[in-house]
Amino acid sequence: MSDKPRVWISRPTFPGIIARLEPHFEVTAEPEEVKFSRTELAAKLAGQDAVIVGLKDRIGAAEIAAATRLRIVANLGVGYDNLDLDALSAAGIAASNTADVLNESVADYAWAMMLGVARRMNAAERWLRAGHWHATEFKAWLGMDVRGRTLGILGMGRIGQAIAHRASGFGMPVLYHNRSPLPEADERACNARYVDKQQLLRESDFLMLVLPLTTQTRHAIGAPELAQMKPTAMLINVARGGIVDDAALAVVLRERRLAGAALDVFEGEPAVHPALLELDNVLLSPHIASASQETRRAMTALAVDNVLALFGHGPHAGRPPT
Ligand code: DGY
Repeated sequence: MSDKPRVWISRPTFPGIIARLEPHFEVTAEPEEVKFSRTELAAKLAGQDAVIVGLKDRIGAAEIAAATRLRIVANLGVGYDNLDLDALSAAGIAASNTADVLNESVADYAWAMMLGVARRMNAAERWLRAGHWHATEFKAWLGMDVRGRTLGILGMGRIGQAIAHRASGFGMPVLYHNRSPLPEADERACNARYVDKQQLLRESDFLMLVLPLTTQTRHAIGAPELAQMKPTAMLINVARGGIVDDAALAVVLRERRLAGAALDVFEGEPAVHPALLELDNVLLSPHIASASQETRRAMTALAVDNVLALFGHGPHAGRPPT
């Protein structure tokens, strides 16, 4: 066994990019996606100097108890609700995320979801594949135009702003709510107006969620918030399951008190609330908003850079989550 420090990568990524670690580290990469139990994860972390992990890997005090050599947990994702930052910091372990490199990709996907659910693309495709298309009907599959309708954004970080930038091409006014308003110049650049959460809920025709999941944002959209939305409105979640109370959402969608939803993330994913699966006014996808060829490569490269930087091998500073 070499005396190089060891790095473990918890999931298949891109071998050509991971190879940049090899001159400096003993690298072990999992060949398949596995959801490790807490005990398995603790065993994997023990003896490693660095790890590159993803949302499926929940890392807290128990998982790092035996990881006495561990210096960095590099998360493949901008969100890091899978990491217990207090436990990592108490153990002197750095954490990094993959901020910024996925902004445009996630913004594109949020728009794709919004347009898809507005025009009923998912339900129409299912119907066509099921062999129901026997005549082209003028009045079938009527969706909703987005032009002139109000786009609401809850959470106006870098991804929220990338979403807002796209709205002018679609002729949509943008309202947003955030912990605090953007600096005036940024607000002007994305042509968006700050409102309180109640006004955002009441006035949005399409409401996009782009918040991190924290104890404060859990169920930020539950039954009381859904009741304030227009019955013609649609909800798009590309952030995290857990921000929305999926059971409450399924009720308002079934009762048509909300016109539609497009969800890329779920409470308890990969499980999806069974009531959502029965509805045809919901577009569902398996947490793929950042899953483009370019972006997943860029995320891998940034995680690798963060590990290299911490060990003094790279030009890039590690990016601790903020
Ligand atoms: C992120 O970057 O947080 C994504 O949701 C992970 O795929």
